[in-house]
Amino acid sequence: MSELPGFGEARMVGIFGKTGSGKSILAAYLIAGFSRNPQLGILVIDPQGEFARNFPGSKMPEGKFDFHGLLKAMRGPFKIYTLENVGLDNNDYETFVRLLKKSGILSDFGIRDELKQDDAGLSLIYDLKQSNKNVTDISFDDLQNNIREILQHLYRRSYLERNVLPTFNIAVKYNKDRIESKLNIIKSLFGRPIKIDDIIKDVVNNHEVIILDISKAGSIARHFGLEEIEIKALILDKIIDKLRQSGEELFYRGLSANVLVVLDEAHRYVPNTLPKNEELARLLRRIRDSVRTTRKYGIGWMFITQSIADFDKEVYRQLHDYFFGYGLSVGADYQHIKEVTPKESLEVYRSLPDPKRTGQYVFMHTGSFSMLSTVASATFVKVFSIKEFIKYNLNMDYDEFLQKYGEEAIKRRLEKRVD
Ligand SMILES: Nc1ncnc2c1ncn2[C@@H]1O[C@H](COP(=O)(O)OP(=O)(O)OP(=O)(O)O)[C@@H](O)[C@H]1O
Ligand SMILES: [Mg+2]
Repeated sequence: MSELPGFGEARMVGIFGKTGSGKSILAAYLIAGFSRNPQLGILVIDPQGEFARNFPGSKMPEGKFDFHGLLKAMRGPFKIYTLENVGLDNNDYETFVRLLKKSGILSDFGIRDELKQDDAGLSLIYDLKQSNKNVTDISFDDLQNNIREILQHLYRRSYLERNVLPTFNIAVKYNKDRIESKLNIIKSLFGRPIKIDDIIKDVVNNHEVIILDISKAGSIARHFGLEEIEIKALILDKIIDKLRQSGEELFYRGLSANVLVVLDEAHRYVPNTLPKNEELARLLRRIRDSVRTTRKYGIGWMFITQSIADFDKEVYRQLHDYFFGYGLSVGADYQHIKEVTPKESLEVYRSLPDPKRTGQYVFMHTGSFSMLSTVASATFVKVFSIKEFIKYNLNMDYDEFLQKYGEEAIKRRLEKRVD
């Protein structure tokens, strides 16, 4: 499949199917196949850490599925990052201030009203930009001094003296430790070893294959009512934004980014209804916007999800390639399949048997510019077992693969070296 023209450049792919229908494994095969193109950067956003941990729960007739072995054989080295180690930019004052607000620090300093918090936030961002300090170097005193200044312009004098300053003074005098510990937690998000720019450089400039394990976001969330998924959304939003930016820069220089972004469990991050949560809503808007604009920069997307009904329809309709696995032949999901599938293929799709029973993982592939067929009809593909995949793609015996690239063999080799 790697020989198929221009896939990575800007194809939009969706893989749908009920849980256990083999979506993630199909995606892993496609990724391994596309990874053969050394000019293609691949970013796999991995919500369950499944790709990063090499599909620990999988069972195939031959044993375990070995994604890492396939990547090694077809591409060579690849990298795994965990979101816990990925930090926000040290001069991202907008996000810093947003977190100050969320954590209640602005309110601790006496700015209670939401609108006032926004005004104060804008001034604070301006001041921090002027100071040009790294976020990780901003101290309680820096913050206190900046906010004290801002309060003078924010409120009328009498109101300030009566209602705001008393709280501010208490904060400085008695609540310093508590506020400082919140501040340190926020700062810890900026001081992490891997920078978003590193990831972008890897994927866009160096055309590397990166698996980003986002199953954990780090311990910050527990500390102040900021849910873990919000932290994930916040960092993902930045990554996608930077990706778009660097794609755009290349585009204006007449170049193409040539990147594929893969997102599993996509309904969580690209849901059908706008989430109430601010960070998740921001991420949804970002992804919608990116899908629309990044195609021309050579950035393609692959979304994987169990439920079409729960997946954003704007993105759904932008896809070029649809893979439908077993189990979506009823209700709203089926209506959405009908929208993009030639009539004559629908009955075949509905009659697909349960792969758990047959051991055959079949997907219907359709799309406006199908990558598997030039005819405007659906194609049914039976997904290989790992043995078959290796035979047809690597022209290699399964035992030879295991010897050279298999997880066990590599573990054994490493152990030997340690002895
Ligand atoms: N091509 C295949 N050949 C043999 N077994 C397979 C194949 N694809 C999937 N399986 C088996 O089915 C299991 C589930 O597959 P997979 O993890 O890809 O499902 P999924 O659709 O991603 O499910 P979920 O929505 O829960 O993430 C695998 O762990 C494996 O045991
Ligand atoms: Mg899956």
